Amino acid sequence: MDFDRRELIRAAFRAREYAYAPYSHFAVGAALLSQSGKIYTGCNIECASYSVTNCAERTALFKAVSEGECNFTAIAVVGARTDRSDDSLITSPCGVCRQALYEFGGAELLVIMAKSEDDFTEMPLGKLLPLGFGPEKVV
Ligand code: THU
Repeated sequence: MDFDRRELIRAAFRAREYAYAPYSHFAVGAALLSQSGKIYTGCNIECASYSVTNCAERTALFKAVSEGECNFTAIAVVGARTDRSDDSLITSPCGVCRQALYEFGGAELLVIMAKSEDDFTEMPLGKLLPLGFGPEKVV
């Protein structure tokens, strides 16, 4: 897929700066590329009532959908604890986010899980969520 991965990853790192994660200390940023070429970003937002937490991926997705964008080609995700400089792990979207992304990107959506602009793993959402349950099943 032909687009600037470094730019998308950079946007995810910028979004991560706004992460509100006082409970887990795990800050996540996401940048979602729409079919029209626009980038929507999001961070994780935690609450004292922990289950209310919204992941970075869904923050980006809901921002985009609420502005009329419903088709996406790729998402970059970056995450790390705020109190450690351990960048050995990639952050892969949680199950809930995989399902939400599947709704608007389908199996082809490219998921880029990055440690840095130059060090990342990518795979289609269909590999992270095999046999996904999408809108075509219910209409
Ligand atoms: N989190 C995300 O925002 N995205 C992911 O892909 C994994 C987890 C957040 C939720 C919570 O605020 C923190 O990371 C620790 O689970």
